Amino acid sequence: MKPTSILVPTLARQIAAVFGTPAHVYSQAALERQAAAALAFPNAFGLTVRFAMKALPNAAVLQLFRRMGLHFDASSGFEARRAIRAGVLPCEISLSTQELPADIAELLGAGVTVNACSLSQLETLGGLLPAGAEIGVRVNPGRGSGGTGKTNVGGPDASFGIWHERIPEILAVATRCGLRVTRLHTHIGSGSDPQVWQQVSALSLGLTRHFPEVVTLNLGGGYKVARVESEKGTDLQAVGAPVKEAFERLAGETGRQLRLEIEPGTFLTANCGVLLARVQDVCDTGENGRRFLKLDTGMTELLRPSLYGAQHPMEIVAADDGVANGVVSDVANGGVVSGVGGGAGEGGATADFVLVGHCCESGDLFSCAPGEPETLAPRALPAATRRGDLCLIGGAGAYCASMSAKNYNSFPEAPEILVGVDGCPRLVRRRQTLEQILQNEVLPED
Ligand code: LLP
Repeated sequence: MKPTSILVPTLARQIAAVFGTPAHVYSQAALERQAAAALAFPNAFGLTVRFAMKALPNAAVLQLFRRMGLHFDASSGFEARRAIRAGVLPCEISLSTQELPADIAELLGAGVTVNACSLSQLETLGGLLPAGAEIGVRVNPGRGSGGTGKTNVGGPDASFGIWHERIPEILAVATRCGLRVTRLHTHIGSGSDPQVWQQVSALSLGLTRHFPEVVTLNLGGGYKVARVESEKGTDLQAVGAPVKEAFERLAGETGRQLRLEIEPGTFLTANCGVLLARVQDVCDTGENGRRFLKLDTGMTELLRPSLYGAQHPMEIVAADDGVANGVVSDVANGGVVSGVGGGAGEGGATADFVLVGHCCESGDLFSCAPGEPETLAPRALPAATRRGDLCLIGGAGAYCASMSAKNYNSFPEAPEILVGVDGCPRLVRRRQTLEQILQNEVLPED
């Protein structure tokens, strides 16, 4: 998806002038569109859509989704607290975490629901909850699928959830602690293959037969989105339809009408955000070398290329309204210099550029090959691109502001801006200051 379809050039220039670069910019209209699509997920007996808030935990976004009727998936006690501070009711939060927080008793007391993600967590929760209390369990259904190995969280190589063969132990612990397992949860990865997701959904539905008191099945998130043209997004209607039928079949056989939960993060936010940056230098390594665009952002705002070899679309918007006023989209095509005419406008000449971040390591690379963080894959961008031009990096709504090499090289955290449905940009997080970076440092006393 073209970044300029979320952030048009005039607004990009305006935001850069008012708030500076780099800046994370989100579109309220796009966020609302995605939420509406998720809320239309096929279901037989009711649906709760939880926003996996780790993708984009800004309070303004949480509030926006809450107004649309979404609930929330928290992955740590801190995320649960953050959601509560943003005005989310504790009973709207489901906590599935690798590490039970120290304040878990208070969170439970406030009404946060928890999915036990290990047998020891189940024991601990059993010790805290009153007899007869309801609990959820996250099960590793035996199979996973992720866009990369780093985001596959199911199967024998993943530590997430309780291994499915240990269900008898889950039942034994729950019985001993007087807990009623009423929710079952599986999440097999991010950027999952839709077919595997469907197969695992059927598998997970089958697992509910071991848990007679389960009334809700949470099938997690992981729905692929297409950030660049070569990627294919998941059609929620298509993946959900057979799952809905499977819920109906189970009801026909057993009389159990299970509620469905899904908890997307990427689907709800990825293509709703643009990282707005500026070209702060241009250099090359000779005739047979490379041409580089150095941006005023990097892994400090967007880690996904360095971490996964993730592909993000990029467009150059000329700094002024002059000849080079246009927008030429990248598309990771690795083409050679092409096109005719001058300026960076549409139809102008393009050249291959390697786009790098501002951190002092070669791993801070934006234009990498798919799945290969270390391999340079130049992008065709306007040959006339120069210092001061804007670079819009798309697909940057999910796991960007929330998952970065924050403060590396002591660069301050970038601001977040939400563009309302009225088209007005509003600041929803200020740029960090050097004082804030340093505020917790203490010098040892002699
Ligand atoms: N539910 C659970 C329990 C999760 O752990 C996650 C993501 C989600 C839901 C949402 O998954 P999504 O719909 O966003 O794929 N940092 C990576 C993705 C890893 C997310 C980990 N958990 C990325 O940048 O793509």
